Amino acid sequence: MSNDKREAIGVIGTGYVGLCTAVGFAELGSEAWCVDIDAEKIAGLQRGEVPIHEPGLAEAIERNRERLHFSTDLAEALEHTRLLFVAVGTPPTYSGDADLSAVHSVVAAMPPSDHHALVMKSTVPVGTGEAIERIFAEQGKDGFSYVSCPEFLKEGTALADFLDPDRVVIGDDGGWAGDAVADLYRPLLSAEHGGKGRSELVRTDVASAEMVKLAANAFLATKISFINEIANVCEETGADVIEVARGMGLDQRIGPKFLQPGIGFGGSCFPKDVSALKQLAGNSGYHFQLLGAVIEVNELQKRRVIGKLEKHLGSLVGKHVALLGVAFKPNTDDMREASSLVLAARLQAAGSTVTAYDPIAEEVAAEMMPGVEFASDALGAVSGADAVVLVTEWDEFAALDLAELAKAMTGDVLIDGRNLFDPKAAAAAGLRYEGVGRASR
Ligand code: UGA
Repeated sequence: MSNDKREAIGVIGTGYVGLCTAVGFAELGSEAWCVDIDAEKIAGLQRGEVPIHEPGLAEAIERNRERLHFSTDLAEALEHTRLLFVAVGTPPTYSGDADLSAVHSVVAAMPPSDHHALVMKSTVPVGTGEAIERIFAEQGKDGFSYVSCPEFLKEGTALADFLDPDRVVIGDDGGWAGDAVADLYRPLLSAEHGGKGRSELVRTDVASAEMVKLAANAFLATKISFINEIANVCEETGADVIEVARGMGLDQRIGPKFLQPGIGFGGSCFPKDVSALKQLAGNSGYHFQLLGAVIEVNELQKRRVIGKLEKHLGSLVGKHVALLGVAFKPNTDDMREASSLVLAARLQAAGSTVTAYDPIAEEVAAEMMPGVEFASDALGAVSGADAVVLVTEWDEFAALDLAELAKAMTGDVLIDGRNLFDPKAAAAAGLRYEGVGRASR
């Protein structure tokens, strides 16, 4: 793709979203000036070291080295670009609200300007854009433009998602900046919007764009909690949730995606955003009952594994339980809100010894899981175990020889938290198998 005419961008925050935004637009031909307050991270990126595990990202950074600039200094980004994408963290506070301190530091650092815009990629509560515009006005920076442009990429497929989104949502109050952001995305948009991609363009106001992001994540989380509850009822009634999800998902109004039951959703987004939306509603005087249930179902789902283990092993005191996978989902080393954290802590509290193996998350996980012994492969982790729990559905676990696994264990219980294995193959290997929402008999 020719790059001469592509607009350069600034990116503030070099986490998942910031890096993928910079690299994604660099792939489309833009220069990207990336800024982060973490000097060590910036020094690493300048040396070509990628701070997160994300398929294809390191290669894409290497490919676009000339177009990517990393600095702790905002001045260069301000000098070379008009559009400053903000991708800083908005973690939950103790009250469940989003912590906007990093966003506000960015706002405070902006100089007065009538030719720059903040383009908000971080997930923020509805009303944040309005509040920032008010702050700009108070500080005599009313020339600074503001655009909401939420990001919908998923970890593990982040760059691919960035470059092939279902939709691009741009919220603004008119003016040059919204159009400039739309132009940047043009190659990814469908012909109807002047591009060659397949993405739909949604141009709307700032508050609605902010709400699209929160509502989309909350809806997907609701879908997961819903299918988890259906799975739990299937276990009681003898139905098979995989058949049920297939039968439901073929209804185009429902769709097959995000109907995989498991041991609860984790990650940096769903738990935080569901709670942030619930809190936002509550702060505005509306009690969002459904989201309370979505969160509660998710917490209970992580703990159901304990009940299944007790059903087979009786008391867990002195038992050895092995966890296969600890990351919150495959293809990432992200441990934020991973179900494995709750599971390991519950098992240890119940008196069990816990061993674990994860293809890449060990380094991040080990610190967060004190007392858990990590092995260098799956068979090492299950060696001598009374029970094995499949926590994260990494491809390499699907390829495991279950007979070998059974031989390495002392006991014979396999709890499959992601319905990865074939129950018949597990039974043939001599294992007592329990999936999620499917017959174990
Ligand atoms: C999620 C959204 O899918 C993205 O669209 C959004 O941009 C992102 O949050 C964000 O707000 O930044 P992510 O957290 O990376 O992306 O991962 P998902 O693939 O959505 O998985 C989240 C959790 O749900 C995982 O623990 C996964 O195991 C679980 N899950 C997912 C299920 O239990 N069942 C499913 O059917 C799908």
